[in-house]
Amino acid sequence: MKTHTFPESFLWGAATSAYQIEGSPLADGAGQSIWHRFVRTPGLVKDGDTGDVACDHYRRMKDDVAMMKRLGLTAYRFSIAWARILPSGRGAVNEGGLGFYERLVDTLLENGIQPMATLYHWDLPAALDDRGGWLNPDVADWFADYASVMYKRLDDRVKLWATLNEPWVVTDGGYLHGALAPGHKNRFEAPIATHHLMRSHGKAVQAYRAIGKHQVGLVVNIEPKYPASDKTEDLAATKRAEAYMNRQYLDPVFHGKYPDEMTEIFGEAWPEWPQEDYDLIAQKIDFLGINYYTRNVVRHEETSWPLKAAPVRQKQATYTETGWEVFPQGLTDTLLWVKKLYGDIPQYVTENGAAFFDPPTASAGRVNDPLRVEYFRTHLRAIHAAIEQGVDLRGYCAWSLMDNMEWSLGYSKRFGIVHVNFETLERTLKDSAQFYSSVIASNGTALDAGA
Ligand code: BGC
Repeated sequence: MKTHTFPESFLWGAATSAYQIEGSPLADGAGQSIWHRFVRTPGLVKDGDTGDVACDHYRRMKDDVAMMKRLGLTAYRFSIAWARILPSGRGAVNEGGLGFYERLVDTLLENGIQPMATLYHWDLPAALDDRGGWLNPDVADWFADYASVMYKRLDDRVKLWATLNEPWVVTDGGYLHGALAPGHKNRFEAPIATHHLMRSHGKAVQAYRAIGKHQVGLVVNIEPKYPASDKTEDLAATKRAEAYMNRQYLDPVFHGKYPDEMTEIFGEAWPEWPQEDYDLIAQKIDFLGINYYTRNVVRHEETSWPLKAAPVRQKQATYTETGWEVFPQGLTDTLLWVKKLYGDIPQYVTENGAAFFDPPTASAGRVNDPLRVEYFRTHLRAIHAAIEQGVDLRGYCAWSLMDNMEWSLGYSKRFGIVHVNFETLERTLKDSAQFYSSVIASNGTALDAGA
């Protein structure tokens, strides 16, 4: 039997994001975000769900941290809602909103849990969207100013900062296909949004060097791409898919340019940018956060826009409720792929998890979620395999701490290791939380047992 032990300093965390859990979006002087507006536009979110209450974490924060402590978490990754700090996105600081994150960080530290703060998890202040949002080149200064407010206030207590969560999703969902806020569908906007997101990241890293004393990084979602066959056209489609989703946001940070395939994918919509922008984007970062959920097997498909590539469903695989194949080997492959292409940057798995069906009400204090337990067992083994193969992996965060507002899918998909009853807001540890807790308590050896 294989033994799974992890480095002494390995961080065991769970992740959430502000809009998905907090509720009380306008409390204590906060401004509206693009999500506040998006959910109020009929037809955009399943069942008309909103984040107005969500998990009510804004008001239940202390109990939620106590629950994290009971689980044995040593890290907690959360995001800061920009519009709570700067209600119009710029200008005067709203102490009411900032106070919430100060209290959160202090409560985490009192409980021995290391805070990992993400500055942007998709909730742009609506006032900035009115000025063009991620399409306006000035957004890089707005973001760096906001980031500086947070560094000044919290860097004495927060040692791990991430600038952006998943810039690919911000662009693909927000500006190309429109399923996420601000809901644009525009092939010419998407490359511009990408570029200003990356410039904003660069400026926020620069700002950190002037103020911060710890570590700053970027969080990307990586979905490894495997060709459906060795036909030339499938191999080329796989390369395009990998460039679009995975390398578009890492090549400029580590290699100072976008992948060559981008021009092929976007054609006339792909602009030229000045060299100084690339220099800005390629600021040295201290770590990379990887969000991994699934893989993608790719075949050429002429009619599929803009990649001319389509996913191939695997007959014998388990699929989650969001239609994602369970493929743990892809997580090992991803961490090794990053090391191979971008070098020995310290990595964290900042999100990993699965939506499976759970009943809306827990029964007798229990939620039996065997598929999610299996998902975590196999993916935690997969990160162990990557560490054995030389990846400098410093920590892991389960997505998500608790069931929450799954963006345009509303409350219809449950990703939590903790169950939330959305009528009573009662929390119940699922079996997957108990399992993860036992992995943490045993520093990994609980992964030895089981199939
Ligand atoms: C995001 C989360 C989201 C999760 C599951 C990630 O892309 O960072 O906010 O809930 O995936 O869809």
